[in-house]
Amino acid sequence: MNINENFLKLEDSYLFSTIAKKVAKYQQENPDRKIIKLGIGDVTRPIVQKVIEAMHKAVNEMGTSEGFRGYGPEQGYEFLRNTIVKNDYKNLDIEADEIFVSDGAKCDCGNIVDIIGNDNKIAITDPVYPVYVDTNIMAGRKENIVYLPVLEENNFVPVLPKERVDIIYLCFPNNPTGVGIPKEELKKFVDYAKENKAIILYDAAYEAFITEENIPHSIYEIEGAKDVAIEFRSFSKTAGFTGLRCAYIVVPKNVFGYTKQGEKVSLNKLWNRRTTTKFNGVSYIIQKAAEAIYSEEGKEQVKNNINYYLENAKIIKDGLTKAGFTVFGGVNSPYIWLKTPNNMKSWDFFDLLLEKANVVGTPGIGFGSCGEHYFRLTAFGTKENSIEAIDRMLLDNGLSSNMLSKH
Ligand code: MLT
Repeated sequence: MNINENFLKLEDSYLFSTIAKKVAKYQQENPDRKIIKLGIGDVTRPIVQKVIEAMHKAVNEMGTSEGFRGYGPEQGYEFLRNTIVKNDYKNLDIEADEIFVSDGAKCDCGNIVDIIGNDNKIAITDPVYPVYVDTNIMAGRKENIVYLPVLEENNFVPVLPKERVDIIYLCFPNNPTGVGIPKEELKKFVDYAKENKAIILYDAAYEAFITEENIPHSIYEIEGAKDVAIEFRSFSKTAGFTGLRCAYIVVPKNVFGYTKQGEKVSLNKLWNRRTTTKFNGVSYIIQKAAEAIYSEEGKEQVKNNINYYLENAKIIKDGLTKAGFTVFGGVNSPYIWLKTPNNMKSWDFFDLLLEKANVVGTPGIGFGSCGEHYFRLTAFGTKENSIEAIDRMLLDNGLSSNMLSKH
């Protein structure tokens, strides 16, 4: 059998697997060290009470003849799709049959390539969540990728493509820079997409962390976006579902792609076709869990957790700023993006931080070449660990920029 040789064009290992391996090796060699992990964006707060109650109830239902359910609708149960529309898209004119419930935004971001023609030009920001790049390489589009630099001098807003592209991946609040996009900047991308018959794939997995007014929670807040954008949302970071697995994708019925002959085809229809063929839906119990997030109590409980992480972000950001680091993000996002001291390479800083402070972060270069000399820390740890990590980093161990420049 022949393999899909596109896989050979990928880096040997997925970024977060590489980090996990390095950390495991260090821990094995240094068993007495207490390592604080602020690398992968995985949550630490337990699932909120209202969600737990909903799951218990659903489990019990499944044990009765009246309540038992087998296969559910591939697109998600009506009760959840309607609740999503009512809450997340209030006044945005999105309909329940434009929502597809899934087991994660990572899968959705990866699976969407199924409905994209092979010769499309794909614009991807740099730095970026590696899934967008890797899944396009797997699908044979390595040569079709155009990178949009995301630079500090431009407040980490990506530049518009210089050439015509068909697809643009955007993630805001951004992973990894932790920066939100103001409405007027996002509008430029929507206008570009309209003018160029392009589609925006908008990853809004971190929208629950937005605290500032002018930062949109959904791309559909921008006029015209309903004709050109697909949006990804996730309960992972919003409600701590990284282990439960539930997310959704919005594919408006007005978004069209074209055949080579120029015939218009609804992407909603294609995505529905793909979903019904390749997916049997998220379990009833988990969809009931997701629904509970939207109850009054559920909303409050989830908000408390988000505030907890935002406070960690502030602790990390303020601590590092005081020590002389240049720091971004952390206000509308659980990610803090810092400049490595003295222009250090980001993997070197990773090693130094691991060895001297026993703190794990993510090297910026892992997200793309424009991420070199930057480093990402997550606020998803516990408050105690966030405080301790910063204390360790600020000790005179050669880590802060002040310290390094003295030496
Ligand atoms: C990250 O750390 O970038 C995310 O946790 C990865 C993910 O959501 O898959």
